[in-house]
Amino acid sequence: MNKFHIQTLGCQMNERDSETLAGMLLELGYIQSDNKEEADVAIINTCSVRDNADKRFFGMLGQLKRLKNKNKNFIACVCGCMMQQQHIVDEVKQKYPWVDIIFGTHNIHKFPELLENVISQRERQIDIWDDGGDIIENLPADRLYEHKAFVNIMFGCNNFCTYCIVPYTRGRERSRSPEAIVKEVESLVASGTKEITLLGQNVNSYKGEGDVNFAKLITMLNEVEGLERIRFMTSHPKDLSDELIEAFATCDKLSNYFHLPVQSGNNEILKKMNRHYTKEAYLELINKLRGVRKDIGISTDIIVGFPGETEEQFEDTLNLVKEVQFDSAFTFIYSVRKGTPAEKYTDQVPEEVKHERFNRLVEAVNESSAKNNEKFVGRIVQVLVDDFSKNNREMLTGRSSENKIVNFKGNSDLIGKIVEVKVISSNTFSLTGELV
Ligand code: SAH
Ligand code: SF4
Ligand code: F3S
Repeated sequence: MNKFHIQTLGCQMNERDSETLAGMLLELGYIQSDNKEEADVAIINTCSVRDNADKRFFGMLGQLKRLKNKNKNFIACVCGCMMQQQHIVDEVKQKYPWVDIIFGTHNIHKFPELLENVISQRERQIDIWDDGGDIIENLPADRLYEHKAFVNIMFGCNNFCTYCIVPYTRGRERSRSPEAIVKEVESLVASGTKEITLLGQNVNSYKGEGDVNFAKLITMLNEVEGLERIRFMTSHPKDLSDELIEAFATCDKLSNYFHLPVQSGNNEILKKMNRHYTKEAYLELINKLRGVRKDIGISTDIIVGFPGETEEQFEDTLNLVKEVQFDSAFTFIYSVRKGTPAEKYTDQVPEEVKHERFNRLVEAVNESSAKNNEKFVGRIVQVLVDDFSKNNREMLTGRSSENKIVNFKGNSDLIGKIVEVKVISSNTFSLTGELV
């Protein structure tokens, strides 16, 4: 039996795409292997959101060469967001002649055909599409988990935040039909899925046929019998509607959690980022969310060192972090992306200043995470159990509705179930508890 191995960099979109690639390979009769060394087909699904993702890819690519030398039938494939950039494809073509297949984010459904061509013709296949065509439904998928699943609701992004490469690598916004989404969720639930995470770069601008907007879609999914939890990512503040906030009052399956990237706490920087909201508008949204669900978990994304960011402007971000008291935040050092407007800004912040601000930001975020986690001690939380804890095989680990990591003692038969856990202690990144 031929074996395949997939390495996935980047966000949930890429993870979901890798599930489709795995599903197609299983249909072709391949089997999945955790061990790259024994693979006959290896795929690297790339991300280009920051420079360190690019660097990791080139490191991984170097390793594949050895496998090629060992096994003359080995097929090396690269795909994902980096391949939507001409300068990257040129570099792979020139410097890595042993790569057999290069494809992009818009044509993963073509992968079986490209693979077939390489096997029959022994000739390199390069197929990149500039934009997404019609959405292709019913592709196979080998899901990573049974109890929780990612469900695409839309592809692409129209926002062109000035620092971001995603609109160039994922094309324009396209929404799946509500029927297709409901059908997929129903079939996932029938095979044991309890929690779904709806995926899109800006789910608030979802636009299904008729007048189905994102809030309506949630209402439809809330009706799916047997489904227990609905999550979604990512939400853009400029499109977060009162109707969606209201859905948190009426839809019991919506998890008690909201990820709302703020990026900066300074209005001038937000404007230069092309984000289309102010710090005040953002704070108002947080108030409304907490008005509907008092103890909703809130996380965010923040970039430090955007071109031209002054010490005072950075302090506005620090103050916002202290004011909102996020449950957690993904913090990033600004990374110049080729082809984006911010690449041309001449006032880039020096590396050491970016690092120093980053450390101060992380400290503020950790402080608020720890404080928020402390409030959970003594409470009972609903935990969807993922697996044994990596660090301690006697402990199980899962996520509460607020997206908190919760560790507790229990048996393997609880994996995939939602159980009640009483929190007995907390730290910055997780809660520890006992089964009730
Ligand atoms: N569509 C989502 C996020 C996509 S990328 C949204 O708008 O929220 C995930 C995060 O990566 C972004 O929220 C941003 O904080 C960060 N990011 C994107 N481009 C970046 C860059 N050039 N440098 C540093 N961080 C970046
Ligand atoms: Fe990038 Fe902005 Fe689109 Fe998010 S909304 S993917 S940050 S351009
Ligand atoms: Fe990276 Fe592409 Fe996702 S650039 S963050 S894998 S959309």
